[in-house]
Amino acid sequence: MQAPELPPWWARTTVYQIYPRSFLDTNGDGIGDLPGIVRKLDWLRDLGVETLWICPFYGSPQQDLGYDVSDYDAVAPEYGTRDDVRRLLDEAHARGMRVVADMVLNHTSNEHPWFRESRSSRTNPKRNWYLWRPGRKPGGKAPPNNWRSLVGPRGWHWDERTQEWYWASFLPFQPDLDYRNPEVQEAMLGVVRRWFAFGFDGLRLDIFHAIFKDERFEDNPFSTRLLPSEDDPDGFLQSYRRTLHHPETIAFARTLRRVANEFQDPPRFLVGEVFGQPSALRRYCEGGDGLHSVFLFKAMRAPFTAAGFRDLVLEFEREMPAPLVPTWVFGNHDRSRRGERLGYHPEREKLSAAVQLTARGIPFVYYGEEIGMRDLDVPLATAKDPLARMYRFLPDIVARKLHAAGILLNRDACRTPMQWSSAPNAAFTDPGAAPWLPVHPAAETVNVEAEERDPASILHCYKRLLRLRKDRPALHAGALTLYPEHALPPEVLAYRRTFGDDVVDVLLHFDDATRRVRIPGDRCVALASTYPAPLPIREDEAVLRPYEALVLGR
Ligand code: GLC
Repeated sequence: MQAPELPPWWARTTVYQIYPRSFLDTNGDGIGDLPGIVRKLDWLRDLGVETLWICPFYGSPQQDLGYDVSDYDAVAPEYGTRDDVRRLLDEAHARGMRVVADMVLNHTSNEHPWFRESRSSRTNPKRNWYLWRPGRKPGGKAPPNNWRSLVGPRGWHWDERTQEWYWASFLPFQPDLDYRNPEVQEAMLGVVRRWFAFGFDGLRLDIFHAIFKDERFEDNPFSTRLLPSEDDPDGFLQSYRRTLHHPETIAFARTLRRVANEFQDPPRFLVGEVFGQPSALRRYCEGGDGLHSVFLFKAMRAPFTAAGFRDLVLEFEREMPAPLVPTWVFGNHDRSRRGERLGYHPEREKLSAAVQLTARGIPFVYYGEEIGMRDLDVPLATAKDPLARMYRFLPDIVARKLHAAGILLNRDACRTPMQWSSAPNAAFTDPGAAPWLPVHPAAETVNVEAEERDPASILHCYKRLLRLRKDRPALHAGALTLYPEHALPPEVLAYRRTFGDDVVDVLLHFDDATRRVRIPGDRCVALASTYPAPLPIREDEAVLRPYEALVLGR
């Protein structure tokens, strides 16, 4: 059979997300930096990840730790310099890796010169770069409408000097830009072009679903939902119909794609942070002229059972059929770590890694996920996260209860320093330095050095599966077909990946028993397991150990 054409690099890649503040500190100030990432590039390459996504490193007052940008062309001094970004790109490219920057288009910091100007007077030329509205009620003291921010309270903020309200989708110090103003689009597309020209291979687009809001500022309808979730952004008794997923946002995805297409060798990649059901999110990518892909956060919520993941794989295949590409995300800098949800059970974590790396889609591995890092219980009162500070009036017990239900009020929990070894400060920073967030006490045993020594570790499982995925076109580029349900016990999910002549089968065992399963189809060999070595296949029967994933080939 003639080999089909390989899809573009971004559709085949594996992404590793780095929160620069927490990865490696090279100057002893307790804050991770860009030279720290450069120093670990060999390690990352040997791990087997192909693309790095770096959370924002731009000039920022760091109130939201970089997601509040005051200078899009500068680098925050605690992270390094533009030369360090240059070196990071060059060194990563020299190792055959790609680098994706994090782009915050929706809002700036309130300390951005544009916003300072905008709020200086109603007649300032930058006034209409942001969303300013008069209030209701005498004196304008009631907000223009009922819109809530993504994080709960009203998103309108009163400006005493100019006696109007400005809109912020996230926190008050992150005013939204007005993308109906062509000057704003031009300015922000300029930022995008400059970082692409600098050499970034792609962009992760922060809260992209919020870019355009209802032009007439009509109220959001009532909803019975109390709290938003990964797959439904409605909450706080409001449907976000007028503030999220606006048709003009989908159209703007196409504008951005045209800008990305101006750059080739390599073609640039756009992945959107958007929240909702896959059926709604596909609109951002449909037609092949919008975003290349979007995060499908639903995987974080799927019941950890064969049936749960079967439904999910089916849904991802139905809603994001090739050439669209789903994404596999189990954690990031805003959400509970995967291990937390899986009860810190290494075999379950490895099984989840197997889904992430063998199902069709782009895997996003959050730093530390590959060693099983855990959430830290940090009291709201001492939080660095502005979201937690906003909710610090809540008793910690409430925050803990929400955390247990998968809602992270204090995002410090999942942002603690990378655990490189059991040395003081987990070798993230100098032994005598004070890391910006405490190192998790589990670093004693859960760390890179210890796991490098242990072939049964989560880390080695990642290495094996990443290597295999890179070697086998079926895994990085192939179509996916689920095995019929009746062919296997209910605790086992199986699919076949096919690319031309390359065929790989994946068996995923969501149970703590040991069971024999008949493998449908022709004779095959075990290529890899989540255990250090697969058991040999006898005839047409495989033995699956507790929570084992087995990859079979010919
Ligand atoms: C996104 C980021 C989050 C940030 C927010 C506002 O959700 O992932 O960390 O606080 O947007 O920019």
